Amino acid sequence: MLKIGNLTIDNPIFLAPMAGITDHPFRVLCRQMGAGVVYTEFVSSDGIVRENLKTMDLMRFTADERPIGIQIFGDDPETVGNSAKILNEKFDPDIIDINYGCPVPKVTKRGAGSGAMKDLCKMDDITQAVVEAVPLKPVTVKMRAGWDNESIISTEAAERLEKIGVKAITLHPRTTKQQFSGRSNWSYIKAMKEAVSIPVIGNGDVVTADDFMRMKDETGCDAVMIGRGALGNPWIFKAIQAKLNGTNFFHPTILDRAEMCKIHFELLKQDKHEKLCVNLSKKHFAWYIKGFSGAAEWRSKFVRSENIDEIESHLNELVNDFALNYSE
Ligand SMILES: Cc1cc2nc3c(=O)[nH]c(=O)nc-3n(C[C@H](O)[C@H](O)[C@H](O)COP(=O)(O)O)c2cc1C
Repeated sequence: MLKIGNLTIDNPIFLAPMAGITDHPFRVLCRQMGAGVVYTEFVSSDGIVRENLKTMDLMRFTADERPIGIQIFGDDPETVGNSAKILNEKFDPDIIDINYGCPVPKVTKRGAGSGAMKDLCKMDDITQAVVEAVPLKPVTVKMRAGWDNESIISTEAAERLEKIGVKAITLHPRTTKQQFSGRSNWSYIKAMKEAVSIPVIGNGDVVTADDFMRMKDETGCDAVMIGRGALGNPWIFKAIQAKLNGTNFFHPTILDRAEMCKIHFELLKQDKHEKLCVNLSKKHFAWYIKGFSGAAEWRSKFVRSENIDEIESHLNELVNDFALNYSE
């Protein structure tokens, strides 16, 4: 059993925070599929202290999503600390996570996200402010390996963050300069794990149950966080649990995928206004509906859909067609 501060976590397979993706519907699905912890996307501390409505909406969650982490980012220690206090009082998440990994220039040029890795004293100050603002809540950090190959700071930063009182660290071991190119270098996860005694959560390029086992074996990490591997594939959490328990996992059939589109769509309909529901359905369906003959035609039907009714009628066609024609 894994513990992050005073929080006990049933299984060590986490859903990564992903902007525009890990909203309430997707988090609910991933929890149902066995994710041990889910996260909101990164939320601006500036927006939180201004109580901007859109920002506040990103942090709304329901009890069935717990344990959930709300992730924040910002460059000014006082603001980030205040934002943690406000969100803790309003939402009471299980974890507050600080983002030191975002590589987007709009964020990093102010010293927020992975920009903080260029100045470890500033990273200390931001973290300290959050830990002091919410003394009873586990505060965690998610970071990259460093700004570029010449400045890998993850192990040194982890030692400093542990002293400040952070209760776990997630490492996506690419540099900011790398963005998402190349491979993540798991040896940095191993180095971090050897340097600190708080839990280390490994992240980067895990897309199968075998990858999960390999990352655990090679790095000794306490948990694994999965991002892109869950897109169109929330079953990945079940597949990994089955591997850990030595039980069988039956890969989703094409019909299962079509039915998952329907379930996801229903959750989106309940949660979003029509335009957003339609756009997000198109985005997620493109991930669910792929890898079989005829997939491209189905995807383009959804892409051309303009409203909820059109999506709904194509979804019914899709499920009926698959139920009739695919008997894997
Ligand atoms: C579309 C997208 C949005 C992301 N948004 C966030 C975010 O809001 N906060 C964060 O810490 N990381 C974010 N990430 C990074 C992921 O959490 C993760 O670290 C990265 O994708 C590597 O893991 P993976 O190989 O399992 O995808 C995002 C990644 C993607 C692809």
